[in-house]
Amino acid sequence: ELGPYRHFMQKEIHEQPRALADTIEAIIDAAAFEPALFGKDADDVLREIEGVQILACGTSFYAGSVARYWIEAISGLPCTVEIASEYRYRTAVANPKHLIVTISQSGETLDTMEALKYAKSLGHTRTLSICNVPESAIPRASGLVFYTRAGAEIGVASTKAFTTQLVGLFALAVTLAKLNGRLPPEQEAGYIEDLRQLPGSVQHALNLEPQITSWAEKFTPKHHALFLGRGVHYPIALEGALKLKEISYIHAEAYPAGELKHGPLALVDDAMPVVVIAPKDALLEKVKSNMQEVRARGGELFVFTDADSNFSASEGVHVIRTPRHVGVLSPIVHTIPVQMLAYHTALARGTDVDKPRNLAKSVTVE
Ligand code: F6R
Repeated sequence: ELGPYRHFMQKEIHEQPRALADTIEAIIDAAAFEPALFGKDADDVLREIEGVQILACGTSFYAGSVARYWIEAISGLPCTVEIASEYRYRTAVANPKHLIVTISQSGETLDTMEALKYAKSLGHTRTLSICNVPESAIPRASGLVFYTRAGAEIGVASTKAFTTQLVGLFALAVTLAKLNGRLPPEQEAGYIEDLRQLPGSVQHALNLEPQITSWAEKFTPKHHALFLGRGVHYPIALEGALKLKEISYIHAEAYPAGELKHGPLALVDDAMPVVVIAPKDALLEKVKSNMQEVRARGGELFVFTDADSNFSASEGVHVIRTPRHVGVLSPIVHTIPVQMLAYHTALARGTDVDKPRNLAKSVTVE
């Protein structure tokens, strides 16, 4: 079953061009950004909503965190995202005109399921599940469903489920924009083209594996790592830190780079590797000045960027560049290097990559 791969996680990382292509094909076959993509009653439901509330756990929560940037920027609807185990136990104020979106690879995560039930008890009637396992509990309890086509995910650390969730969430953002009259035809064609190019861009990122393996050697003896990103790439920094901590057991934290001087900069010294997700976007110059703050304290920088930024490597600054700038879908492409960095660091440390200690694939208990 593993073919040429050593672990399911490695196999699943490499399956991403295929998983994404399958998920994208389902979107484009269904006339791209039409409500029917989310189920037969979706037109009525999505037309009426005035906002979006996303609920999820772990990596799926980070997918929702990327989606918040997309939904507000592309559709103009307000969007909030909350960890399901927090939402379900607080006194929340429901706006039944908001769509509840749960995100779950397994469709069985107890906290996400209970958060959905709680939302319904508060009066929410419009619910959408983004899920990878057909007929699992959460999609069965939801009015609308979008199934990611990642295929079975066996490694405990989520990889291909995350990137395919992002594609489904992007399609949701664009569909909502279309319903709101905010999608000119040339923009729609542009987004379809962006989706068509995505599997190829992800393959290019996978081809960086040898360079990332050499970075992993530098991380192997470390005790701590810091991940930075800004805007839509901040959740990718969070995802990179989660992957590294859960499979290599290196303590890793992620911050929005603008928060550095509000506290975490105190941690930076020459023993602290700092990973920066820094593709070309409107915030690149801001990220560069954050990087100088790290360098000035002796922190070693490991920068993931793309073809359109003008970074160069220097003393204490390592740069890996994806070969194309992919615009709005950039967070998906920049997920690949952080997954591979975690994988190769764990491999070198000899941990049980597919079954990290203390963790279960599907969390059906509290
Ligand atoms: C991390 C990871 C977990 C899951 C979380 C939610 O790599 O896999 O954080 O993302 O347990 O699981 P699902 O998506 O099945 O609800």
